Amino acid sequence: MAEGDSCWVVVLVGGVVGFILVVVLNHFWPLLFKGKGGTVPKGSFGWPLLGETFSFLKPHSSNSVGAFLHDHCSRYGKVFKSHLFFSPTVVSCDPELNYFILQSEGKLFECSYPKPIHGILGKVSMLVAVGDTHKRLRNAALSLVTITKSKPEFLHDIENIAIQILDSWKNKPRVIFCEEARKFTFNVIVKQVLGLTPQEPETSEILEDFLTFMRGLISLPLYIPGTPYARAVQARRRISSTVKAIVEKRRAGRRNNNNDDDDDDNNNSKKNSDFLEILLSVDTLSEDEKVSFVLDSLLGGYETTSLLMCMVVHFLSHSPAALQQLKVINEALRYGNVVKFVHRKALKDVKYKGYLIPSGWKVLPVFTAVHLDPSLHANATQFHPWRWE
Ligand code: HEM
Repeated sequence: MAEGDSCWVVVLVGGVVGFILVVVLNHFWPLLFKGKGGTVPKGSFGWPLLGETFSFLKPHSSNSVGAFLHDHCSRYGKVFKSHLFFSPTVVSCDPELNYFILQSEGKLFECSYPKPIHGILGKVSMLVAVGDTHKRLRNAALSLVTITKSKPEFLHDIENIAIQILDSWKNKPRVIFCEEARKFTFNVIVKQVLGLTPQEPETSEILEDFLTFMRGLISLPLYIPGTPYARAVQARRRISSTVKAIVEKRRAGRRNNNNDDDDDDNNNSKKNSDFLEILLSVDTLSEDEKVSFVLDSLLGGYETTSLLMCMVVHFLSHSPAALQQLKVINEALRYGNVVKFVHRKALKDVKYKGYLIPSGWKVLPVFTAVHLDPSLHANATQFHPWRWE
């Protein structure tokens, strides 16, 4: 080999070794953290870069905490450290610490979902925004939902959609309930938020893009054309354009109505009362925030509500006595664990019950562990709706 060539090999090998060293040091560096007045919880950091993320996310049945939490809690206690989603993390399966984290929102902890999710949701999504922006978005959302829910058409519209779905089962030998629950949930949200019926072409356009968008949320965050992630980002853009076009159409209709004094009063008052109409008149939200709000409603409501409905039907099929009385929502939320944990980040060093949670670390309050804690719920791994009486 010529002298020049061997020089290049040395540089290349040196570069690779240097890079690996930086990655390894960066991964394990936080383990050396010594804060004042408390100790960082015990735990392990797993492999460089990925940490213990794959074991943490390994699927398990909804009425168990899964092997990862089970092993780590028995080894280190209910609060332990780990390395998840590319961050040093404190995982909490302790009800009191979870309560403290959620009660200190904005002061000691803030919402912190993984960065790639920001790319798909956009920066004005309620799951991404923090501080005053988040407060403003949440206040607008709360008042919008409260007004819409109190309208007489609200339950009537939901009932109509349920009847349409039930009618569609008439000539089918078999229906897959989870698919029907998804259809129902999507149609309800789109009707409530955008005033669209299932028959309108925009509804199927939004559904197709929304499903692509959902697939991207649980994919590798590589923006390479053709990957689920890139498709999700594009689908989000298309949903934004469709929603913007609906908003523009409604605005134009509104202007025409204002110019037309002879317009039918009844029609006018119905239009003025629907969600989109109220959303349009909110002046504390920018145009992008309004569109993002529509997406947040779909994202927040679709998977959660339809999954809960499926679980209710599944649990009821195993509990005929509960089916007679239909008292199941609280128990299905506890036992079904639709949302297993949420993402938070410590804004400063936080001391709690002798633990130290270092500033900047990810914090994951795990709801499943609390829902299935036998010291809080007797026979926690059994579906028993009467426990809430
Ligand atoms: C079974 C049903 C549902 C469950 C279990 C559920 C659960 C949750 C949880 C745990 C959060 C907190 C996320 C966090 O702070 O990190 C959340 C937030 C949110 N959910 Fe739901 N949800 C459900 C239904 C819905 C529905 C029907 C909608 C709208 C149509 C919705 C819209 C939202 C929105 C917009 C947020 C963000 C609120 C904020 O950041 O202030 N959810 N949901």
